[in-house]
Amino acid sequence: MRILTSSVGRKILMSITGQLLIIFVLIHLIGNSTIFFGPNGINAYAKHLHDLPPLVWAFRLFMLAAVSVHICYGVMLTLENKAANPGAYAVKRNLKKSFASENMIWTGVLLAGFIIYHLLQFTVHGTPDIVVGLDAANRVDVFKMVVTSFGHGLISVTYMAAMVMLFLHLSHGIPSFLQTMGWNNEKTIPVYATGGKVISAILMVAYISIPAVILAGLLKL
Ligand code: HEM
Repeated sequence: MRILTSSVGRKILMSITGQLLIIFVLIHLIGNSTIFFGPNGINAYAKHLHDLPPLVWAFRLFMLAAVSVHICYGVMLTLENKAANPGAYAVKRNLKKSFASENMIWTGVLLAGFIIYHLLQFTVHGTPDIVVGLDAANRVDVFKMVVTSFGHGLISVTYMAAMVMLFLHLSHGIPSFLQTMGWNNEKTIPVYATGGKVISAILMVAYISIPAVILAGLLKL
């Protein structure tokens, strides 16, 4: 129980759930990149995923629990820090202050808003831009759905802006989780800070390339 109530315990749980979310972001990017192989890439990939419903639902519930813990404890830590409770930050801060580190709560809130919108759009199919149908091989046509949606400039720009939030959140989140887990020393701190920025920038550019390529008309129906 102490891990849930002590400030160090909560920070560790935030770190572990954050690491799970980073792994998801990496896997999701690899899966999404199959769009560059056309309908036979992403539609086949989505079919493989959807052919395993119990596993898909177990994974979704697990990720929902991880996101919930991450958000709840993130809000609690921010409020505790704001209240300048001297016991609140029992994990020593070695990382330099930056725009990203000072705005974790806001980039996090904007990302949570993006994820809700994204789920409503591509998972629930509840937004007006969504075109759902089957391809020639009778698979859900995820290619057509994504290409049609990203053909709308405003939607693509919204995604690009959300990926900038992801960059900011992870550029501090990555070195921060390494520090929380204690996998650091004086020498590794600057390396982690730079590494965090580089990895986050690669993720941002890779994610942005999907709407950018579609908007540029290089990937079309
Ligand atoms: C260019 C960017 C992205 C594209 C094209 C994309 C595409 C998709 C698609 C097509 C689905 C529905 C999968 C299906 O049910 O067949 C999906 C689901 C999802 N995406 Fe993304 N995504 C992008 C970025 C992101 C980012 C940055 C995050 C997280 C920060 C994210 C989180 C999720 C989640 C949580 C789901 C639900 C997975 C599930 O249904 O179990 N996505 N995405």
